[in-house]
Amino acid sequence: MSPKTRQSKPIGVFDSGIGGLTVVKALMRRLPHENIVYFGDTARVPYGAKSAQVVREYAAQDTDFLVSHDVKMIVVACNTVSSVALEVVQKHAKVPVEGVILPGAKAAANATKKKRIGVIGTIGTIASNAYTNAIRQLDSSASVVSQACPLFVPLAEEGWIDREATRLIAREYLFPLKLQKIDTLVLGCTHYPILRDVIQSVFDGSAELIDSGEATAAEVDGMLTDLDLRNKSDQKANVQFFVSDIPHKFTEIGERFLGQKLGRVRRAAGF
Ligand code: DGL
Repeated sequence: MSPKTRQSKPIGVFDSGIGGLTVVKALMRRLPHENIVYFGDTARVPYGAKSAQVVREYAAQDTDFLVSHDVKMIVVACNTVSSVALEVVQKHAKVPVEGVILPGAKAAANATKKKRIGVIGTIGTIASNAYTNAIRQLDSSASVVSQACPLFVPLAEEGWIDREATRLIAREYLFPLKLQKIDTLVLGCTHYPILRDVIQSVFDGSAELIDSGEATAAEVDGMLTDLDLRNKSDQKANVQFFVSDIPHKFTEIGERFLGQKLGRVRRAAGF
């Protein structure tokens, strides 16, 4: 196969559902000429409260779907999958794989001045300690406090971004992290960038928020160069969306996460 064909293949991105569109948004902004195939497992979302064993099984199937679309690399947008099943994806992918944990951890370790970092994510992500381990491997003197914030996922999907109830819940989850005097907070879940303003308001400017999706897009940018996989075309990229179920209000929610019109969304075969 000529290098040109290899480079023009799409990047495969998958998530447990719709949330990974925040990662697609970051990728599209940073890499506007890269073709993308997105798969959201909307029939089986959420992954965040499921056992690692089940998440691994789902991750293998999600990876196989993207492989069947002949992708040149796979970005695991889902923090839960990146935390507990990255090696499963690597085994099934046969192409380079990037998850969101290491890029988010690196960005946090670089940003913190007081070496006090907070991490928020799903129950599965926090229980795995994946962020804590990655941060402490990068800087063993950093202290990491983490907190699962499961209610943030439905709140983001409901679009409750400027509601009193959301502010109260955010305060309940995050105030203990503020008391720990963290100066950096990793948004370790695809949905949390949607709630950025509410989260920021709890810290009142005392913590820098790290969007793992954005950090991952920057990492993917570097990988494309290093692996000579960058699409040389200056055409507008082709971004395709597949889901395992079309939930109620999918397009509306999806557009909020992606920050633009979604276009055609197809049901993925085999789920
Ligand atoms: N995409 C998941 C994550 O980033 C959040 C939603 C879920 O629980 O499936 O961990």
